[in-house]
Amino acid sequence: MTRVAVATAFGGPEVVRIVDEALAAPAAGQVSIEVKAIGVNPIDYKLYSGAFGSDPSTLPLHLGSEASGVVVAVGNSTSGPGGQISVGDEVIVSGAKGAYAEKLLVPADAVLPKPASLGWEAAAGLLVVAGTSYDALEVTKVAEGDTVLVHGAAGGVGSIVVQQAKARGARVIGTARPVNHDALRELSAEPVEYGDGLLERVQELAPDGIDVAIDTVGTDEAVDVSLALVSDKDRIVTIAAFERAAEEGFPSVGGGNPESAKRRKAARLDLVNSAGAGDFIVTVAKTFPLAEAATAHEELKAEHPRGKFVLIP
Ligand SMILES: NC(=O)c1ccc[n+]([C@@H]2O[C@H](COP(=O)([O-])OP(=O)(O)OC[C@H]3O[C@@H](n4cnc5c(N)ncnc54)[C@H](OP(=O)(O)O)[C@@H]3O)[C@@H](O)[C@H]2O)c1
Repeated sequence: MTRVAVATAFGGPEVVRIVDEALAAPAAGQVSIEVKAIGVNPIDYKLYSGAFGSDPSTLPLHLGSEASGVVVAVGNSTSGPGGQISVGDEVIVSGAKGAYAEKLLVPADAVLPKPASLGWEAAAGLLVVAGTSYDALEVTKVAEGDTVLVHGAAGGVGSIVVQQAKARGARVIGTARPVNHDALRELSAEPVEYGDGLLERVQELAPDGIDVAIDTVGTDEAVDVSLALVSDKDRIVTIAAFERAAEEGFPSVGGGNPESAKRRKAARLDLVNSAGAGDFIVTVAKTFPLAEAATAHEELKAEHPRGKFVLIP
């Protein structure tokens, strides 16, 4: 048996329940994991909000997609993206269904070796944000000498975009609440407050123009400012404003896009190793017991501290 968090209806965080479920032994190509930490992402609550459909036959919805933990059992001849998987391995689970659990049964392909230098919590919250960031930078071809505007630069995804764009040699201007400006400066980004007058403030900081705009927020302000500043629409990308992207004819990443999924899968091992080597840092803002998943979602939906939220089983 394992304890899991599920959404028993469509709605707000009040629909999240902790239940016990049976867990089978791993078949060939499967791995059982004792979970140490679970990454929390906005998509986890968006999925039961009804924003992506509310078919009652899909209930209860199993929540979460990423975790870290220890391998406790393996099926026959089990190898993953990082090679052979054995009992006792410390691993990262990525793209798994129902990661909000004490124990997981997952395909070996979802299991990557956790670098010893990464703690359980940072490892659990790594791959959604790092994969999304990498995808956005690849699509917009961010390279040395570019001036990049990042909307939501202090966010889970935004803070990795800042670090990965800097590593590519770009100048980065990032929007954030003033309380997060010092943290952006520490990442060598130039902070700017979002809200009325954003366009003028960015123009003042970058009179020679912006080459790339990466929107991790999805507001009309972020999209409108991006369109006003960047004439080449191929160098604007959003991870959240899918309708605006389709209407205006600029790219989005994620949201079921098969090219995104392919790019992220191909990069995931390198991203894990790169995080392990300290090339970029996933900041953990707060941990919650798994039983308080609903509270974590309530807080994540509101104005919240900078960094990832992580559940501990
Ligand atoms: N397409 C994909 O593959 C993909 C993958 C991951 C996430 N997402 C989506 O991307 C979004 C961000 O995810 P996340 O994990 O980075 O969330 P997050 O950690 O909550 O970060 C969101 C950021 O948005 C900023 N923000 C809030 N209101 C804003 C506003 N009105 N204008 C400008 N910035 C504002 C906040 O900055 P301050 O704290 O400084 O106010 C915060 O740093 C979510 O909608 C999520 O569902 C998409």
